[in-house]
Amino acid sequence: MILDFKTLAKEYGTPLYVYDFEYMRAQYCALKEVFGGEKSLISYAVKSNSNLSVIQNFAKEGSGADCVSIGEVKRALLAGVKPYKIIFSGVGKSDVEIKEALELNILMINVESEAELKRVESVAKTLGVEARISIRVNPNVDPKTHPYISTGLHENKFGVEIDIAKRMYIYAKNSSHLDPVGIHFHIGSQLTNLEPLSEAASIIADLVRSLKAIGVEIKFFDIGGGIGVKYYGDEELIDLEAYALEIKKAIKGLDLTIVCEPGRFLTANGGYLLTKVLYEKQNGQKRFTIVDAAMNDLLRPSLYNAYHGVELLEEKESEISTTDIVGPICESGDFLAKDIELPPLSSGDLLLIKSAGAYGFTMASNYNTRGRACEVACDDEQGCRVIRRREMFEDLIDAEKLYLQGE
Ligand code: LLP
Repeated sequence: MILDFKTLAKEYGTPLYVYDFEYMRAQYCALKEVFGGEKSLISYAVKSNSNLSVIQNFAKEGSGADCVSIGEVKRALLAGVKPYKIIFSGVGKSDVEIKEALELNILMINVESEAELKRVESVAKTLGVEARISIRVNPNVDPKTHPYISTGLHENKFGVEIDIAKRMYIYAKNSSHLDPVGIHFHIGSQLTNLEPLSEAASIIADLVRSLKAIGVEIKFFDIGGGIGVKYYGDEELIDLEAYALEIKKAIKGLDLTIVCEPGRFLTANGGYLLTKVLYEKQNGQKRFTIVDAAMNDLLRPSLYNAYHGVELLEEKESEISTTDIVGPICESGDFLAKDIELPPLSSGDLLLIKSAGAYGFTMASNYNTRGRACEVACDDEQGCRVIRRREMFEDLIDAEKLYLQGE
C-alpha cells in the first residue's frame, strides 16, 4: 500500500517504525499457497517482530507461532494464536518455561539436547502429563549465509546430530511422559540458495523413514524458517514454488504435516524505520549525517554490517556526495548506513530506512537511556494507527527508581 511517511512523521514523531500490514499478509498468503495440497502450518517466527498487533495480523490469517521463550509463547497466545499452533524452540529452556509451556498445552516443545529431553520428561512427570516434543536435528549442511545467522553446521550450538537424535527418539518413544510427534531443522537465516535447504530436507526425511521403521511415527515435519529477502533489491532469491516442491519431493510417501517458521520473509520488507536528520558535519574528508535513530533502534548494520536501503523523502537539486548515516549513540559502531550518496541535508529532512520490519524493533535496546521508538501499523481497512507507543523516560527508570537510597 502507499504510505504517506511525511504525514506519519508529523503525526507520530521520529524515530518511527512503520509497518505495512497489507504487505505482511500478502507474504503470508503467498507462502501458505505454495504448500497448498499438503497438510501445512505456517508458524510465524515471532522473534522477527513480536509486536502483539503484528502477531495478531498473522493469527487472523490462521498462522501459528514459532517461539524461543515463554515470553514469546505468551505474546502469541495474547495475540490470538491458537495453542495447538505454537512451537517452543531454543537451546536453553528453563524448568519454569518448560512447565508453563506444558500447562499451556501448546503444539510441541522443540528439544535441542539429550539433557533437555530428560528435563522435559521430568517436568512432564511432575505435572502428570505427556509432553509433545519434536527434536531439532542438525544436518551439518552449510547454508551459505552470514556466519552469525548460520545454524545448521555441527560447529553451531543448535540441534543434535542424527545419531543422537535417533537415540533420543527411541528414548522418548519408551517414555510415558514424552510423545515424539515432530522433527525439526533450521539451517540458517537469510537463505538465498535452495540447494542447502533441499539437501537438509532430504537428510531429515530419510531420518523420518528410518524412525518409522523402528516404530516412531513422526507427524510434523518442521522445516524451520530462513527464506531470504531482498535488501539491496537485485538479489536472486529462493523461488517459493521450487522451495515447496523440493520439500514435497523430500517427504514423498510420508504422511506428514509440513510446518514452516518464516520470520524475515513475512516482515522484513513490510517495515520501515523513519528518521529525521539532526545535523550534518564534516570531519576532515569524511561527511557524516547525524539522524535521530541509532543502533539502539536498528542494530543490524552495526552487528552484522547489514545493508539497509536508505531513501531521502525530500526533493533536493544539489549535488550528491558520499556520507555515513550515524546516530547519537556514544559508539563509533553506531551507524545505519555507510558510504551512501546523498545531497547536502538540513535539519528536519526525513530519511526512510528500508527492510526494517524484521529484527528491527525486536533487537532494539535502551542503550544510552534512549526510549524505544513508536510503532505504527497501516492497512486498507483501518488506515494507520499506533501499535506501540513511544517509550518515555519514566518507562526506562520504572523498575529501578524504587531502589534508590536516601541521603
Ligand atoms: N526458526 C528458527 C528455529 C530460528 O532460529 C529462526 C531464526 C527462524 C525460524 C526464523 O528465521 P527467518 O525466517 O527470520 O530467517 N537477528 C538476525 C536473524 C537471527 C535469526 C535467528 N533465528 C538478523 O537480524 O538477521
